[in-house]
Amino acid sequence: MADDQFSDRLLVWFNKSGRHDLPWQHDRTPYRVWVSEIMLQQTQVATVIPYYNRFQESFPDVVTLANAPQDDVLHHWTGLGYYARARNLHKTAKIVVEDFKGAFPEALDSLISLPGIGRSTAGAILSLASHQRCPILDGNVKRVLSRYHGVEGWPGKKEVETKLWSYAERHTPKKLVADYTQAIMDLGATLCTRRNPECEACPLQDDCFAYNSLRQHDFPSSKSKAVLPKREAIFAIIENNNGEILLEQRPPSGIWGGLWCFPEFSTDQAVEKTINELYGYKIKNKVEYDSFKHTFSHFHLLIKPVHITLKGQTNRVNDAKLSTWLDISDDSKLGFPTPVVNILKDLNKKRSVLNES
Ligand code: ADE
Ligand code: SF4
Repeated sequence: MADDQFSDRLLVWFNKSGRHDLPWQHDRTPYRVWVSEIMLQQTQVATVIPYYNRFQESFPDVVTLANAPQDDVLHHWTGLGYYARARNLHKTAKIVVEDFKGAFPEALDSLISLPGIGRSTAGAILSLASHQRCPILDGNVKRVLSRYHGVEGWPGKKEVETKLWSYAERHTPKKLVADYTQAIMDLGATLCTRRNPECEACPLQDDCFAYNSLRQHDFPSSKSKAVLPKREAIFAIIENNNGEILLEQRPPSGIWGGLWCFPEFSTDQAVEKTINELYGYKIKNKVEYDSFKHTFSHFHLLIKPVHITLKGQTNRVNDAKLSTWLDISDDSKLGFPTPVVNILKDLNKKRSVLNES
């Protein structure tokens, strides 16, 4: 099919059946589009919407975001996962304010140079907010194009990705590029879905390779499945005699970087030794809770929570930047990873049961 027909059909479909009232489709500035694209990189639209609205309410422009404390930014990300996205968002906001006078660069290469912005995200920002003819190639678009053209091979492989980019480039129209970008993402998200593509309603059906060969599920090819390695960690829920819980801020980069967590250990002996010797506290009681699994993109973490109550005086922790005693009944403004949020919730629940009885 001539390439203008591909985009024409997609645009006709989009006008009738695309999504037109997502929060980031109103007032489409580079800032608003950028925040939405970063949130949507690894997270579904329905999950993103409330996070996006809260984020825009607190940080309505790039200057406000650049000036916000990192804890506050991470707090708005609590539960969304992939926290490097939030740290990069914050870094990029500062760069845009300091090096680009608060205006997002309009050149593709400058945008790509910013933390957290790859070629597809840059293409989305430029096409959606600035109507520049820039292709995108996110997960949805990879699926649509690999099915339509019958592209074999895992899209994570360089040659396969290069081929998909060249198709993306060819199909992107000169006119109505913002609508086209939204249209191809919407097609992938609503019709050409991973499990059950609704080919009967698809405007590309006639010359779709996968449809015509009944091979929709062969594309995109998956990576030969490596089994994720397993790791274990003990989360020490250390409670002082005011009922407060000890939390530590994780180093700025790496897993859960900058988020607040329970002190983490690899053995029971290490828990007791550290509490006694390093912190200088005395253990009154120790209860193990059920272990549970948390899965990251590249490994499973088996988390074993151990609740330790202390006796005697627990000095205020000195370095207020790295550790803190948290009153868990308070609404804290810190960023936590999801397993920590869940453990704290359980703890609160247990306490209210105790208080009632
Ligand atoms: N996924 C990535 N970008 C998106 C957008 N602008 N709308 C809906 N889903 C998306
Ligand atoms: Fe996807 Fe089916 Fe449309 Fe092909 S016809 S692009 S497989 S929805």
